[in-house]
Amino acid sequence: MVEQDFILKSYSKTLENGSYTWSSPSNIALVKYWGKKEHQIPENPSISFTLNNCKTVTTLSFSKKENNDDFSFEVYLDGENKDDFKPKIETFFKRIEVYLPFLKDYHFKIETSNTFPHSSGIASSASGMSALASCLMSVERSLSGVKVTDEYFIQKASFLARLGSGSASRSLEGDLVVWGKHQDIAESSDLFGVKYSFEVHQNFKNYQDTILLVDKGEKQVSSTIGHNLMHNHPFAEERFKQAHKNLSSLIGVLKNGDLKAFIDIVESEALTLHAMMMTSMPYFILMKPNTLEIINKIWAFREKTNSNVCFTLDAGANVHVLFPEAESELVNEFIKNELVAYCQNGHYISDRIGFGAKLL
Ligand code: DP6
Repeated sequence: MVEQDFILKSYSKTLENGSYTWSSPSNIALVKYWGKKEHQIPENPSISFTLNNCKTVTTLSFSKKENNDDFSFEVYLDGENKDDFKPKIETFFKRIEVYLPFLKDYHFKIETSNTFPHSSGIASSASGMSALASCLMSVERSLSGVKVTDEYFIQKASFLARLGSGSASRSLEGDLVVWGKHQDIAESSDLFGVKYSFEVHQNFKNYQDTILLVDKGEKQVSSTIGHNLMHNHPFAEERFKQAHKNLSSLIGVLKNGDLKAFIDIVESEALTLHAMMMTSMPYFILMKPNTLEIINKIWAFREKTNSNVCFTLDAGANVHVLFPEAESELVNEFIKNELVAYCQNGHYISDRIGFGAKLL
């Protein structure tokens, strides 16, 4: 597929108004996306677990308007008008207009809510952009008049979501999604996420992710700025090569169920992501003292119990605690007894692998 394949020739139906509701989850990367080229093309491939409980539910209502000069939309979060979300959506609409030529024909009402608290420091861009992209694809499907296959629908939804936020391209399906061209994964693409198609060992089925909310504040440095700091970064080329290598290794690990090797790759990826932030110019640190306290506690617990619990981080201070379902009892006790103390107001979210966006 190339960009042109995502432009439908024409729409044969007309629609005055309507509405669609989609839910779409967040995801957590095992091999990280950090660094992008123009048009939201990633510098390296990434792979993530799709989550189940952390999700956005978006209703998109649309009504035909008089002229088609400009975009026209209103945005609500939990029923409250959110004008501060508008610039990001306006940018998104501009980027996708060529692929959805009906955008200026309608007035849109976007009503969204998250299952996780907005101020939890959990990025809602992946779930939010993938939910909105799915709603827009439902509109296109109704307008097209020809049969749009589910495969095309999901691929284009991921393609559009990517143009809103890179990691959003990995939220449409589950349980594992790859985004970015990788030599060992023939169907992989820089343009959209694809469901991971190789064998996955039972050890990784229903993997658990408990998100420890260390710092619920706004990030000091946005992901977009962070990605851009990978341009002219002294270690960028090596980092991009490493991501390719780690994904190659992970394919074998996911197949043979080697949990120790999985931990090595996943924790190294998390720390490398933050090392890139610390070694960019300007440099910055998103981890907090409690992030490090938790990491050290996890290492000590593993040493003591031989558990396979491990951590990963996204672009913030919160810690994702990953563990096999078979160790749930042991690790949940550990989290309650030793880690919750480091969370802001004791808050955390228990999640696990999920299967992507759903039409409601
Ligand atoms: C650290 O997808 O939020 O979570 O494309 O600029 O919206 P934009 O960036 P975004 O970057 C997320 C990066 C990450 C790692 C990852 O999810 O792979």
